[in-house]
Amino acid sequence: MTRTLITSALPYINGVKHLGNLVGSQLPADLYARYLRGRGNEVLFLCATDEHGTPAELAAAKAGKPVAEYCAEMHEVQADIARRFGLSFDHFGRSSSPQNHKLTQHFAGKLAEAGLIREVSEKQVFSNADGRFLPDRYIEGTCPNCGYDKARGDQCENCTKQLDPTDLIEPRSAISGSTDLEVRETKHLFLRQSALRDDLDKWIDTKTDWPILTVSIAKKWLHDGDGLQDRGITRDLDWGIAVKKGEEDWPGMEGKVFYVWFDAPIEYIACAEEWAEATGNDWERWWRTDKGADDVRYVQFMGKDNVPFHTLGFPATLLGSGEPWKMVDHLKSFNYLNYDGGQFSTSQGRGVFMDQALEILPSDYWRWWLLSHAPESSDSEFTWENFQSSVNKDLADVLGNFVSRITKFCRSKFGETVPEGCEQGAPEAELIANLTTRITAYQGFMDAMEVRKSAQELRAIWVLGNEYLQAAAPWSTFKEDPEKAAMQVRLGLNLIRLYAVLSAPFIPDAAARMLSSMNTLDTGWPDDVASALSALPIGHEFSVPDVLFAKISDEDREDWQARFSGTRS
Ligand code: MF3
Ligand code: ZN
Repeated sequence: MTRTLITSALPYINGVKHLGNLVGSQLPADLYARYLRGRGNEVLFLCATDEHGTPAELAAAKAGKPVAEYCAEMHEVQADIARRFGLSFDHFGRSSSPQNHKLTQHFAGKLAEAGLIREVSEKQVFSNADGRFLPDRYIEGTCPNCGYDKARGDQCENCTKQLDPTDLIEPRSAISGSTDLEVRETKHLFLRQSALRDDLDKWIDTKTDWPILTVSIAKKWLHDGDGLQDRGITRDLDWGIAVKKGEEDWPGMEGKVFYVWFDAPIEYIACAEEWAEATGNDWERWWRTDKGADDVRYVQFMGKDNVPFHTLGFPATLLGSGEPWKMVDHLKSFNYLNYDGGQFSTSQGRGVFMDQALEILPSDYWRWWLLSHAPESSDSEFTWENFQSSVNKDLADVLGNFVSRITKFCRSKFGETVPEGCEQGAPEAELIANLTTRITAYQGFMDAMEVRKSAQELRAIWVLGNEYLQAAAPWSTFKEDPEKAAMQVRLGLNLIRLYAVLSAPFIPDAAARMLSSMNTLDTGWPDDVASALSALPIGHEFSVPDVLFAKISDEDREDWQARFSGTRS
C-alpha cells in the first residue's frame, strides 16, 4: 500500500472562488484523493486558505473589516462551500495559523544560516498620511501611456502597460487618496535562488516522469536570460508573518512581514501540523524524509500560473534549508477555464461562483461537468448549452436512467429484493469482459491523473450497462423466461453498486445515494469484475431511489444564462 500526500494550490482568501478556480486545483485534487482512498491507499489530502498579501488587505478594506476578522470569516465561508462541494480535505487550514508563522520563521532562519539570504536596500514610496510604505498596488495615478487616471503602481488596467510607481503622473495613496508621498530607503531580504540553481537543476533532472511542459517551464526559468533571479521575500505590510530568524528578531526588519509567496507554500507543511494537532496524528511521517516520509508519494495540483513557484520557488526554500523535507514527486497543472466567450474574473465578478452554483444545482452536476471538461491540454470553455447537454445526456439519460429502469422493473416483477434466476450466459460473459477492459483503462487514466479521459472512460462504462439492458430486455424476456429475466435484473442491480464505487470520485453524493438504495456498505473496488457483480446476494433487500439526476430544461438554462450574463455585485 502506498501513501500519497496530495495538496491543492491554496485559494486566496479574498472572496468565494469561481468555477474556473475550482477546476484548476481543488476539484481534480479531490477526484484523485477519493480515487486513491477508494482503492485502499492511505492518503493525506491538504488544502488551506492563502491569507496574506495585498489582495487580502484590499478585500478586507473593501468589506470595511479588520483584516484578521475578514480572513477568519472568509475562511469559514470557503470551508463551508468546500464541504458542500464534496471536497474531501483531511484538513482545510489557514496560512495565517500559528504553525505557519513559526515554520515560516524557522525556514527563514535556516536559509540565513546557510548564507542564502542577502539584505538589499531599496527605494520605496512612503505615505506620510498613512504612516506606511505603499506597495505598488496601493499607489494610484495617471497612466503616462494612455492617460487613464486610475492606473496602479504596478500596471495600468486600461492599456495593460507594466509600470513602476514612479512612472505615475500625480501619484496618490490608494488607501487614503493622499498625495503626500515621498521616496524613502528601506531594507528587504532576498533569497539567493541563483546560488541554488545547480541544486535545483539536478533535482529537476531526477524528475524523468514529469510532463515535458512542466520541465520546460522550469528549465526556462533556470537558464534563460540571467538565469534564476534572487527573489524578494519581505514586504512592508501590516498583515502577514513578522520577519524573524527562527525565534530571534531580525535587526532592521522591524515592522516588515514575509512576502505571501514565501509563506503560502510553507503552509502545505504547516497545514499537516494543524491536522496532526487537531486529530492526534503524526505529521512528520508525511513531511520529513528522516521520519518516514521517504516512502510517501507527494502530488501537487495547481493552475499553470503557479508552476514556477512550485517547481522552483518552494523547492528552493526546502533545498536551501539543508533539512530533510519531502519534495514534490508529481505535479499536475491545468490551463484556464473560460466563461461563455470571455474569462472568469474575480475582480469583475464575471462567471459562476461556487456559492451561486450550489444555489442552482447540487454539487455533483457541477463536479461532473467541470471534471469531464477539465482544461488539461488546452483552455476550455463553460457554456450553458454545453452544461445542459452533458448533464442531460451523461447523468440523466445514461447513468440515472439505468438506475431507475432496473430498480423499478425489479420492484414491479420481483419486489424490492435481489432475485435469483438462472445461470449467466454468453451476453453476461461478454459484458464482464468489456467491463474488465474498460475498468482497467479507467484505472490507468486515473492513476495518470488524466481527468478528461477518466471521465470519458467512466461514461463508457455506464453506457455498457445501458447497452446490455437494452439488448437483454428483461421486460420482454420476462414473458417467456422469468428465470432469465431475474438473472438479468440481479446483474443490473449489482451493476448499480459497481457504478457507485467507480463513480464516487466524480459524483460522491449520487454514489452514496446509489449505495444506500442498494442497502449496502460494501464499497469494495472491483478488482475482479465477476465477483464484484455478485456482491449483492440473492434475497438482499433494496429500495428504488428517487430520481438521481433531474434534466435541465431549456427554460432553466435560459434563466441561468440571463442571470449570469453580467457581473456579480
Ligand atoms: N493563492 C495562490 C493562487 O491562487 C496559490 C498559492 S499556492 C501556494 O494563485 F503554494 F502558495 F500555497
Ligand atoms: Zn494606460
